[in-house]
Amino acid sequence: MNRSFVENREPPSGSKDSAPGMSLNAKKIGLRLWLALGLFFAVVPAGMAAGQPALTGIVSSDAEGPMGGVLVSAKRMNSIVTITVVTGKDGRYAFPADRLAPGDYQIGIRAVGYDLATPDLKVTVGGKQSKTDIKLNKTKNLPAQLSDAEWLMSIPGTPKQKEWLSTSCVFCHSLTHVLTSKYDAEGWLTTFNRMSNWSGSSAFFKPVLSPWANHEMISFTKGDEEQAKYLASINLSTGPEFKFELKTMPRPQGDDTKVIITEYDLPRHDAEPHDAVSDKDGMIWYCDFAEGIVGRLNPKTGEVKEWEDPSPRPGFPGGFQALELDSQGNPWVTRHELNGFAKFDKKTEKFTNMSLPENQVSPKTRTTFLAITPDDKVWVKDNVDFKAFWFDPHTGRYLGRNQYPDDVVKTPPHNIYGIRSDSKGNEYGADIDGSGIARIDAETGKATYYPTPAPNSGPRRMHIDSDDRLWIGEYYANKIARFDTRTGQYHEWDHPVNWFSPYDVAPAKDGNIWAGGMSTDLISRMNLKTGKFNNYLMPRVDTNVRRVDVDNTGARPVFWVGENHQSKIAKVEPLE
Ligand code: HEC
Repeated sequence: MNRSFVENREPPSGSKDSAPGMSLNAKKIGLRLWLALGLFFAVVPAGMAAGQPALTGIVSSDAEGPMGGVLVSAKRMNSIVTITVVTGKDGRYAFPADRLAPGDYQIGIRAVGYDLATPDLKVTVGGKQSKTDIKLNKTKNLPAQLSDAEWLMSIPGTPKQKEWLSTSCVFCHSLTHVLTSKYDAEGWLTTFNRMSNWSGSSAFFKPVLSPWANHEMISFTKGDEEQAKYLASINLSTGPEFKFELKTMPRPQGDDTKVIITEYDLPRHDAEPHDAVSDKDGMIWYCDFAEGIVGRLNPKTGEVKEWEDPSPRPGFPGGFQALELDSQGNPWVTRHELNGFAKFDKKTEKFTNMSLPENQVSPKTRTTFLAITPDDKVWVKDNVDFKAFWFDPHTGRYLGRNQYPDDVVKTPPHNIYGIRSDSKGNEYGADIDGSGIARIDAETGKATYYPTPAPNSGPRRMHIDSDDRLWIGEYYANKIARFDTRTGQYHEWDHPVNWFSPYDVAPAKDGNIWAGGMSTDLISRMNLKTGKFNNYLMPRVDTNVRRVDVDNTGARPVFWVGENHQSKIAKVEPLE
């Protein structure tokens, strides 16, 4: 299938290696532009009543008859947009008329344990309603369809062994690669070594060498002989069949089927949109984890534009981990593997590279996250010295502040992951290893520490609401937490799905709280009043969700997310 992108790349201007430091001279390094041709959203065709579905039918299989909770996706030929709906209890799916323009569509499904009976299923949507019933067969390759949470439910092992897998192996690729491998214990030891050379920004389809591999800094895999033996006892090293039952999660039911998911392909098939953020004008800005690229999706026209600013440090990958918008809507991005961050000016379309002052930080410093204050100062995290730097872009002034009070530093381990600013410019760091929130007072520089009620909670990314309450993904404890920065009080909610492992949590203005993670392919929405969770399944295995975002500017909040391992940006809209 043809993806109609027009590539229009300007020749690079200027040298690539003169940008670091505190220079504020804007410098354009490269520009990429893609235009996705075609209109996506139809007006309701003449001859069809509004509200009538453009395409509908029943999904069934011989094993179950009509099947509820099946995701049905339709992608128009030569378009970058895929629309997904879910069958109700009676097996019926329905695409609203205003979502499918007339044309030819490729149909896909997600229902664990099943494949389309007709793999290459195409339908034509025309002026009047199209009806297509869809037949499913039992799959011959269930392992390829399991999410990481389903693997973790299925495999034998102690909680500790499973936790090791869930924290050491799932972020670069899915556990399917691990379990379907044939390594014996010796083979695993060699493989662990190979894994530890990959940068955390790698994906299975995109290995990125870690520049720190020889510095004993990155040791994600921490594999030892015990773990090698454990993996050799559960993978396919001794035969073609698993010696345990492959358990699957129930398909979506009830309200969880009432949703429309819209996915936009990014122009590069190996894009890794780690962070995707909506701005006031409805544009979606994203950064690429593995490459120094910032992109913008216009959901109304389907135009995607990307700008590249390669690594300012030779030998170090330039990928951006985090993206935040300043008050003018300009994206600020952090380099994942080095001391460097950048502002992208959306008017001039130029990057300005910055870094923490070298004489104040370690040569090993990586500035992976930043937070923007209401008056557009920037907090930048230094992961090595337990510091955060307060940076004024107008004066170029940096102020290093200790992230932890002295008594906390004495009780390792600690490691700040995501950071946020409150309405007064105070900084908060999510201490993933220490299980607490570390606060720096903007005026006095005083550090205060607030342990989470749950032990070993692993707070990871956060959002802050208009009442200065932090919403936190407690990755290890499988909880969502709220921390009231004004009272120092926490509230925690258990996530109902095992191994959901919330990476990030974002509040919507209607009182719903959204969250996503890497292991389940579920996006969840918690109703704050009732405490009820809805869990919406994404259309693909190994979505690999990182930052989540809620666009609160319109009449109804809209949820946006980057599919880090699927090179797509997705919008999730519950129907009720
Ligand atoms: C920092 C990123 C990263 C982490 C963490 C990681 N991997 Fe990988 N893995 C990769 C990449 C990139 C590839 C593809 C290139 C390759 O095969 O080395 C891969 C491929 C694999 C493969 C398939 C290729 C083969 O050799 O059969 C297996 C199996 C595997 N990894 C096991 C593991 C296990 C087990 C863990 C956790 C202990 C793990 N990986 C953690 C990056 C990672």
